[in-house]
Amino acid sequence: MSAFYRDAHNHLTIDGVSLDGLMAEFGSPLYVYSGAGLERAFTAFQAAVAPVSGKVHFALKANSALGVIALLARCGAGADIVSAGELARALAAGIAAGDVVFSGVGKTAADIRAALAAGIGQLNAESAEEVAQISAVAAAMGVVAPVALRVNVDVDAGTHAKISTGQRSNKFGISTDQREAASLYASIDADPHIKPMGLAVHIGSQICDLAPFERAYAALLDVANGLRASGLDVPCLDLGGGVGVDYQQASDTDFSAYGALVTRLFKDSGFALGFEPGRAIAANNGALLTEVIYVKQGDNKRFVIVDAAMNDLIRPTLYDAYHPIVTLAPPQNTIGKADIVGPVCETGDYLGLDRDMPTLAAGDKLAVLSAGAYGAVMASSYNTRPPAGEVLVHDGKAHLLRPARSFDSLLAEETIPVFD
Ligand code: LLP
Repeated sequence: MSAFYRDAHNHLTIDGVSLDGLMAEFGSPLYVYSGAGLERAFTAFQAAVAPVSGKVHFALKANSALGVIALLARCGAGADIVSAGELARALAAGIAAGDVVFSGVGKTAADIRAALAAGIGQLNAESAEEVAQISAVAAAMGVVAPVALRVNVDVDAGTHAKISTGQRSNKFGISTDQREAASLYASIDADPHIKPMGLAVHIGSQICDLAPFERAYAALLDVANGLRASGLDVPCLDLGGGVGVDYQQASDTDFSAYGALVTRLFKDSGFALGFEPGRAIAANNGALLTEVIYVKQGDNKRFVIVDAAMNDLIRPTLYDAYHPIVTLAPPQNTIGKADIVGPVCETGDYLGLDRDMPTLAAGDKLAVLSAGAYGAVMASSYNTRPPAGEVLVHDGKAHLLRPARSFDSLLAEETIPVFD
């Protein structure tokens, strides 16, 4: 099943709502998200991990539009955050502070203070230095900080190098070699300003093979069982995110195999479990809509120049990511390959290379699919291009989550010094 399908006249829709209509109403380029698709993905993930009663914290970094967070909160989502800004978003969207987990290697004293003041559910610490900082901030505030240790279990997730996080050479987590994690856990257990919450692991993103998950989770279990055997309290294991999606088909993700793996490894283990999926919830439930500006026939290539660019969706050029690109109009026979490129002055500014495309002309509208995760959140105003607006379709209605930025608002943030 997919949130994007064609109507009786073969025009592309999002849950039956015309994408042409949304572009006419809200402009181009435009991010659109399927409320039904987001709910379906979230509840499917929840159901897959139900046998181990896992709490699912949506990784806000994938899509932090307040309307998206609020919709998932209604389904029971907590939040996985990586900044005080994302904490503010989680709270503003109605997620209880106790259902928020704060990850990341570089939490500042101010971040930690904000999290503890809000009553955050869990801080995942990634170094002895950070544990010391958390303890000092908690002591100064007269509170007890709930802390889990993120461990680095040295597992290669087999995904793109820029989104692999589970190896010794990556900056993430506390090494499980030389019993570093074990001695640090014993020290947080003894710290009156820290309540030990357990361990966390996250080895990377867009992982489509279960084997790296199994290796990482088995290693995590080993460490956790070792801590327990030495008499320490390890209430919770946070299994991170990383479940991959099918970017070729842009269809709903089947979580049953992942759920079965987790159930096999953790059922009856006695640990409470947490999960942090981001991409798997949002990616295939969003698209970036764009309009063709020109079609330019180069000497050996056709360039389809569109009004969306790398500032709107950086994944193709940053990670060599593939996003399907389809016409909103009824599909026609392809006439050959084309590069779908934006107006930004860089050769790396493309949404798709060497795609089989039909005849296209100025004004034609395209959907760049599977753009619901790590799309709008990674947008910039490079080339002073105002980031695109975002629309959520829910129950047949379109809700503008965020209007496109304007030149005025971009310029209004700046000042020109009075020069002598
Ligand atoms: N938990 C932690 C600690 C993470 O670092 C991440 C993602 C997640 C959960 C969510 O992972 P997911 O379920 O979405 O795979 N911008 C890149 C992806 C970066 C992922 C960073 N960490 C992309 O566009 O592919």
